[in-house]
Amino acid sequence: MTAFGSIETVVDALKSGALDYLSKPLNIEHLKLVVERALKEHREKHLIENLRTLTAHNQAYGKLVGVSPAMQKVYQLIEKIADKDSAVLIEGETGTGKELVAREIHLRSPRNGNRFIALSCVTLPETLLESELFGYEAGAFTDAKKRKQGLIEAADHGTLFLDEIIEIPLPVQAKLLRVLETGEFTRIGSTEALHSNFRLISATNKDVKELVAKGLFREDLFYRVNVIGIRVPPLRERMEDIIVLANHFLQQLSQGKIKDISMEAMLLLTRYRWPGNVRELEHIIERAVSLDTDGVITPADLPDEVRPKTQVERITTESVISPSETLDEARDKAEKAYLETLLKSTSGNISAASEIAGLSRAQFHLKLRKYKIDPDDYR
Ligand SMILES: Nc1ncnc2c1ncn2[C@@H]1O[C@H](COP(=O)(O)OP(=O)(O)OP(=O)(O)O)[C@@H](O)[C@H]1O
Ligand SMILES: [Mg+2]
Repeated sequence: MTAFGSIETVVDALKSGALDYLSKPLNIEHLKLVVERALKEHREKHLIENLRTLTAHNQAYGKLVGVSPAMQKVYQLIEKIADKDSAVLIEGETGTGKELVAREIHLRSPRNGNRFIALSCVTLPETLLESELFGYEAGAFTDAKKRKQGLIEAADHGTLFLDEIIEIPLPVQAKLLRVLETGEFTRIGSTEALHSNFRLISATNKDVKELVAKGLFREDLFYRVNVIGIRVPPLRERMEDIIVLANHFLQQLSQGKIKDISMEAMLLLTRYRWPGNVRELEHIIERAVSLDTDGVITPADLPDEVRPKTQVERITTESVISPSETLDEARDKAEKAYLETLLKSTSGNISAASEIAGLSRAQFHLKLRKYKIDPDDYR
């Protein structure tokens, strides 16, 4: 703590390992937040050390790598429902592993000797989606040269996985509903009722209930496909898994050549928001593996979005004020640096930050907008 917050002193302190600095007069709220952050960092380091010693065998359920309580729940649910025939709806953000979960259910079910057929409903126009699902007879339409089996038929005694199910157009939804209600379907251009005994697993990264409310997804179909619901949590809610998955991808992608991810780099990975979830983590490790030169993944091997400026970098670059600036420019720069520092020390907590700043929440938001600062980047 210092009354003279000169840049050199602060930079020296941070470089020698200080977590943060406080200037006088002491603000108790600020101090509490800094202590909280110190404790959090301590817990994180502890967790990283502990998870390092786990063997690969202890970290996975089939192909699903992860040890977090949230994923343990997913594994338990898979265990319970794998041998049933009820329809499963898997919800989760993009890249969370929904397809892996679907495949794991199939593998652990009595259907595993038969096919697992996956269809993404996103890219197909209505007529194509319909003929993919139901198949057609020769001559059913101009291009139908000979009979084609649909995926519903092909999935007989197996599992049909419909990805992005909410993208199915309403007329095809009606047809799918009929199949689920009666177990019967007809190929396009035919009236013969056929049977298929398939298990339906669907996935979506959008909120289906919301789409039902908007009339874009049939409510009756929703109940049919959502007999069992599984929510795959986003990666940012499972810190343990960030650690074990990062190590897992490192071993896999570097074929054992790179042994380690440094503590600093791992802390950055655990703090990032991961909008692209596990898929994004895999890509970032792949990138780091190809950039690395010294056998250890360090912060320098990580992309900018994961590696926010360190406090030292911020202090020494952003808040340097040049004599050629107008007073307004200099003031704006200082204000922006101040807001960023505040958000960092409060981990993006707007209430705490605005209180320390002596501003109302609304005023604080206005300032953030002015400087294009996203508080989410600090959470
Ligand atoms: N728990 C996990 N363990 C190992 N790899 C995983 C895990 N979760 C996801 N992955 C990997 O991340 C990538 C994305 O997974 P997947 O395709 O199952 O996600 P998704 O939820 O279906 O994504 P989208 O919504 O974009 O279709 C794949 O390469 C997958 O192997
Ligand atoms: Mg998918």
